[in-house]
Amino acid sequence: MRSHLLNDTTAEQYRRSVTEGIERVAAKLAATERPFTGVTVDALSPAIDAIDLDKPLLDTAAVLDELEDVYLRDAIYFHHPRYLAHLNCPVVIPAVLGEAILSAVNSSLDTWDQSAGGTLIERKLIDWTTARIGLGENADGVFTSGGTQSNLQALLLAREEAKTDSFAKLRIFASEVSHFSVKKSAKLLGLGQDSVVSIPVDHDKRMQTVALARELERCRRDGLVPMAVVATAGTTDFGSIDPLPEIAELCEQFGTWMHVDAAYGCGLLASVKYRGRIDGIERADSVTVDYHKSFFQPVSSSAVLVRDASTLRHATYHAEYLNPKRMVTERIPNQVDKSLQTTRRFDALKLWMTLRVMGADGIGQLFDEVCDLAVEGWRLLAADPRYDVVVEPTLSTLVFRYIPAAVTDPAEIDRANLYARKALFASGDAVVAGTKVQGRHYLKFTLLNPETTAEDIAAVLDLIAGHAEQYLGESLDRAS
Ligand SMILES: Cc1ncc(COP(=O)(O)O)c(C=O)c1O
Repeated sequence: MRSHLLNDTTAEQYRRSVTEGIERVAAKLAATERPFTGVTVDALSPAIDAIDLDKPLLDTAAVLDELEDVYLRDAIYFHHPRYLAHLNCPVVIPAVLGEAILSAVNSSLDTWDQSAGGTLIERKLIDWTTARIGLGENADGVFTSGGTQSNLQALLLAREEAKTDSFAKLRIFASEVSHFSVKKSAKLLGLGQDSVVSIPVDHDKRMQTVALARELERCRRDGLVPMAVVATAGTTDFGSIDPLPEIAELCEQFGTWMHVDAAYGCGLLASVKYRGRIDGIERADSVTVDYHKSFFQPVSSSAVLVRDASTLRHATYHAEYLNPKRMVTERIPNQVDKSLQTTRRFDALKLWMTLRVMGADGIGQLFDEVCDLAVEGWRLLAADPRYDVVVEPTLSTLVFRYIPAAVTDPAEIDRANLYARKALFASGDAVVAGTKVQGRHYLKFTLLNPETTAEDIAAVLDLIAGHAEQYLGESLDRAS
């Protein structure tokens, strides 16, 4: 069994084994004609259930054959131009190379003595990101597992910085279309059920700052403490960007921590054309960025950034066995001092490889392309009488609903849209997402693949309409 340990004596086997795996994936990607096979849970489960994990195959090629049946064949392929559903991007090759390197070397970014150069590379990428945001000289941050963790950590710091004698008095303000991790974080942070105040959005799904001002005022009047405002720079559904400069003004006026959740919109930090859309982000106290959404990085790759590095101390604990306090005076950089995690992947390497091979402009151009594609998609939808489209895109999502001319019952239209999404998924021809707008079911394209074309969008709209019409036809038959 020692032959499976990666070391000086097994370098050749490592090369062979990993190459074999890469060959399979490369062949798969080259031959994938649809984003999904449409397999069902019931159809796939028996193959996985039948595998006895206590009876290994003892042969890499055989395991790869088996993997074809239980995973590779039916996986959802984000690189396919008709995968249009969630905030998953196709990945860039330099980042995938970084992934291969980081798992083989297996640095752990908690302490210098487990990573050395890895720590410095991560720190440089954090500095690069804070400079792009414009957070100033005292900024810092750390890589995290994703936007959810970044939001949690940012709100932990905000909670610790808030001046209060009771957590029960703390309030977080976020728009009604902010990400659910804000509420989840509030719960994890021991704040009350009413701690997240939902602020209405305007027609373009941006936080209404007049309503925010009113709620902040009410909070103060009620003797409560405005702990943080979470502005979203790229809402999950609509890609809308809250009015950051106005929110920054209000945060200053009320002495409130400003967190910008730019999990999605962070791609604009590299944008050649649209960086101006997130102006005001530089006034934040903390920012969430998800490189695994709009920087074309493999999962996971995310960071939380702060204006004032000293606030990261709220996540600091020292242990003799890991990061004794004396190391701080010895100026030994231990990233665990800033992180909620201990053992932590060297995800930063993927971004490093990307920036060194492609450059930031390369990434920004790809993101600009999907933003432009969304505008084309919006034009198609707006001109198509079969569809109602919600807002003009700021980033790269489109939320729309099939509206048959002959049907007026909104519940029946809901069912037709739900059916169309399911049927499309089952066909594997395309994958789209769904959401609710004002209580009604809508469909959603999240466009993150520059290979997707306006023709793909038009074709998928036809497929959706076809499925919806089929549902309505059958529904009429059932009624008659
Ligand atoms: C605006 C926003 N914030 C946070 C998150 C959570 O990010 P993650 O899935 O990386 O935890 C998402 C995910 O879609 C998001 O859209």
